[in-house]
Amino acid sequence: PKWVWIDSDAGVDDAVALCAALKLQKGWGYEMKGVSTSFGNTSADNVNVNVRKVMASCLKDGSGGCPIFAGAQGGLRGETADASYFHGKDGLGDAGLDDPVEVTLDGRGAVEGLVGVAEDAKREGAELIVVTIGPLTNLAEAMMRGGRGGGGGGGGGGWMGGVANLVVMGGCGNAHGNATRVAEFNVKADVTAAAHVFEHWRGEMTVVSWDLCCGNPIPWRSFHEAVSKELHEGEVGKFLKAICRDIYSSEKDADKRSGEGAVICDFLAVAVAIDRAVVRKWEMVNVEVETGGSITEGMTVVDWGCYDGVKGREKNVEWVTAVDMGRVVEMLGMTVKGG
Ligand code: BDR
Ligand code: CA
Repeated sequence: PKWVWIDSDAGVDDAVALCAALKLQKGWGYEMKGVSTSFGNTSADNVNVNVRKVMASCLKDGSGGCPIFAGAQGGLRGETADASYFHGKDGLGDAGLDDPVEVTLDGRGAVEGLVGVAEDAKREGAELIVVTIGPLTNLAEAMMRGGRGGGGGGGGGGWMGGVANLVVMGGCGNAHGNATRVAEFNVKADVTAAAHVFEHWRGEMTVVSWDLCCGNPIPWRSFHEAVSKELHEGEVGKFLKAICRDIYSSEKDADKRSGEGAVICDFLAVAVAIDRAVVRKWEMVNVEVETGGSITEGMTVVDWGCYDGVKGREKNVEWVTAVDMGRVVEMLGMTVKGG
């Protein structure tokens, strides 16, 4: 069996990604095993409410739910982050939707949940894909703490051996950052955690970067046909329309991002995770995270191998360089479809 786990700081694009992951389970042949939450686009408390709202709308649409595990309140060095300038004060487009009290959080925390599912995957021979669409704090903490089965701490083995692939939405390969001039938001939000993951993750790791997302927006016409259309039969369609209304509009996105469409990073990462055929091209590269630079902190330094300096750094990352947006648009359509 194929299992999927998502770590999120929802976030409007996170919400699109989570709805897709929950709604497409049957058709794409995998099971959502859990969503863990962290601070990031908004406070961790807001994120917990936001993910419960996502879950409620998907359950009303008849898709299977999954447990939600509360995680990091801040970065490993106590950092906080905020992206209300884009995602709204509540992190979900300030759409004023009711808090679904019937959807509750799992009693276990993010680290315990993640380590547990990886150990289960190992034991049961399941193919577990972990997708991070927020800061890397929960993942780094799990790696530092190790699992019930031992390992962790960067030594490989342990629970990490139960993860078939780690898909990270984060970083940028062309130094065109969105958090600073050179740093991408999810990496910059907790630089220590990101550096730990890139240095010590021992399994397969696929990166869906900010620059990949900017170069592959959902064309406005397709976005409006799927999300902002007049009438939706399903709850997820209505939900996404409400939270995207003030966030994704051609006027707002046109200046800094892409004039051609909606840049929905986390949805692209989930699309890559649940349907490998979305990936058209990739390159194996070495990536290190700058933790010290006075103006470059949080930069993902990619060794593209096109210089005459030190060669032979370990290629630790599969960096996606081209995607099939036709397939991704199709997935968005299936996500908002009723029932
Ligand atoms: C990432 O940062 C957040 O604003 C988005 O949710 C996405 O995960 C893009 O840099
Ligand atoms: Ca996110």
